[in-house]
Amino acid sequence: MGCVIAMAGKGGTGKTTIASLIIRRIKEKKLGSVLAVDADPNNNLGEVLGLKPGRNIGAILDDISANPATVPSGMPKERFIEYQVQSAVQEEDGFDILSMGKPEGPGCYCYVNNVLRAVMSKLIKDYDYIVIDNEAGLEHLSRRTSRFADMLIVVSDASSIGLKSAQRINELAEQLKLEIKKRFLLVNRFNENIKKGKIGETGLEYLGCLPPDHLIEELSLKGSSVFDLDNDAPILTALNSLGEKIWKRNQ
Ligand SMILES: Nc1ncnc2c1ncn2[C@@H]1O[C@H](COP(=O)(O)OP(=O)(O)OP(=O)(O)O)[C@@H](O)[C@H]1O
Ligand SMILES: [Mg+2]
Repeated sequence: MGCVIAMAGKGGTGKTTIASLIIRRIKEKKLGSVLAVDADPNNNLGEVLGLKPGRNIGAILDDISANPATVPSGMPKERFIEYQVQSAVQEEDGFDILSMGKPEGPGCYCYVNNVLRAVMSKLIKDYDYIVIDNEAGLEHLSRRTSRFADMLIVVSDASSIGLKSAQRINELAEQLKLEIKKRFLLVNRFNENIKKGKIGETGLEYLGCLPPDHLIEELSLKGSSVFDLDNDAPILTALNSLGEKIWKRNQ
C-alpha cells in the first residue's frame, strides 16, 4: 500500500508549491514510485511540475457523455470510465500524474470526485507514494478525496486567522471520521518556530515551518518548474530537514 500524503489549507497558502517540492524530493532521493494527483480542478500542480496539460478526468467524462456510443457494448459505463481514467495517468520522468480537471457539463462535479476516489483506491497499491494536491477550502474533505490519507498536511500562514482556518480543517476531518493517520500543521513563509499555545489550538501536530523564499517567487513569476529551483534554495533546505517525518514510510 502506498503512503498517501494529502495537502489541505486555505487559498494561496502554498499547498501546490509544497506538494510539488515533496514530489521533487521523493524523486531525487529515489525513495520509490510516486503518483502525483492534481485534485484541484484548476490544474496547477502539473504546471508547477513543468508539464504540459494532458487528459484529465473532467475531459474524459465530457467525451463519454458527448459520445455514449464509445462505451463498448456489454461493459458497464463505470468500468469503461475507470479504464479510461487509468490510461490517462501520464508517465513523467521519475513520477506519474493524474489530474482531475472539471467537466463542462453542469452538476457533474461530484461525479468527477467519485471517479477520482474509485480510481485512486485502485492505484494506491501500485505506488510507494501518492501526493494529492487539493483545492483550497474544506470540500475535498467532505467529498472524501483525502479520506484514506496517511497524512494530511494542513498548510497555513502564521496569522491567527490562518491558524483558525487550519483548526477548522482539523475539526472537520475529526467530525467526518476520515481515516487519516496523522494530521500535521505546516506553517509556510515563516522563519520562526511558532508558539506552542497557537499550535495546540489547531489540534494538529506541528510539522515545522518553511521560510519565505524569493527564489520560489521568481520561479512562479517566470512560470518555471520546481525542478528548476536551485538545490540550495532556502525552502528546499528547510523541507529537507522536515522531510523524514513526511516521506519516511509506515511511521
Ligand atoms: N515559502 C514561500 N516563499 C515565497 N513564495 C511562496 C512560498 N510558498 C508559496 N509561495 C508562492 O505563493 C503563491 C501561492 O502558492 P501556491 O499556489 O502553492 O498556493 P496554494 O495553496 O496551492 O493556492 P490555491 O489555494 O490557489 O491552490 C505562489 O506564487 C507561490 O510561488
Ligand atoms: Mg494550489
